[in-house]
Amino acid sequence: MQERPPTTVGQFVLALLGTLAMPALVIFMLVKMVIGIQNSRPVDTDPAAANAAVEARIKPVGEVAMKGSGSDAQVAKSGEQVVKEICIACHGTGALGAPKIGDNGAWGPRIAQGFDALVKNAINGIRAMPARGGNPDLSDLEIASAVAYMANKSGASFKAPEPPPAESSKAEPDVTPAEAASSQK
Ligand code: HEC
Repeated sequence: MQERPPTTVGQFVLALLGTLAMPALVIFMLVKMVIGIQNSRPVDTDPAAANAAVEARIKPVGEVAMKGSGSDAQVAKSGEQVVKEICIACHGTGALGAPKIGDNGAWGPRIAQGFDALVKNAINGIRAMPARGGNPDLSDLEIASAVAYMANKSGASFKAPEPPPAESSKAEPDVTPAEAASSQK
């Protein structure tokens, strides 16, 4: 057996550092990692916001919307309302080349296509015109009313489709866009 030279103070300190430094490094990295994970998610400080966030996360994927089931929110908007809330964004200013409301020259050839064609293009979208004005919640009836309102301000004399009576008994038959248009031609 070979005689080992006595351990020097330097070697002792190095060995000590080696054994201590390794776990310290590991702990340091773990702490960094946990802090990093915590910082990567927003802190829900406001309890109301936190609740809303949880509700949004756990809410069912599909929701059944009952149209016309009593609540006022479901009542169809008038053409004027729809235009003033949505369509005006482009049709008020002519943005993206939209025919401006009141610009009979721009509307003339479009109106000549007939009410049905205009409504169809408004529902499906045409060129820079987004489907339903970019608002998929609008019903066909609301779109048709809006088209009639806009076109009538721009030289047409379409008959706005009648909204189905909300609660009262149906006194008159519903006027569909097709009927409204054909009665105007
Ligand atoms: C993001 C802008 C934008 C919004 C919002 C918008 N439109 Fe338009 N719309 C256009 C543009 C652009 C055109 C012209 C498209 C073309 O002919 O190239 C157009 C054209 C039309 C036309 C004529 C289509 C045809 O056949 O010539 C109708 C009708 C119309 N829009 C209805 C609506 C209605 C109703 C709404 C609201 C529900 C609406 N638009 C909202 C941009 C918009």
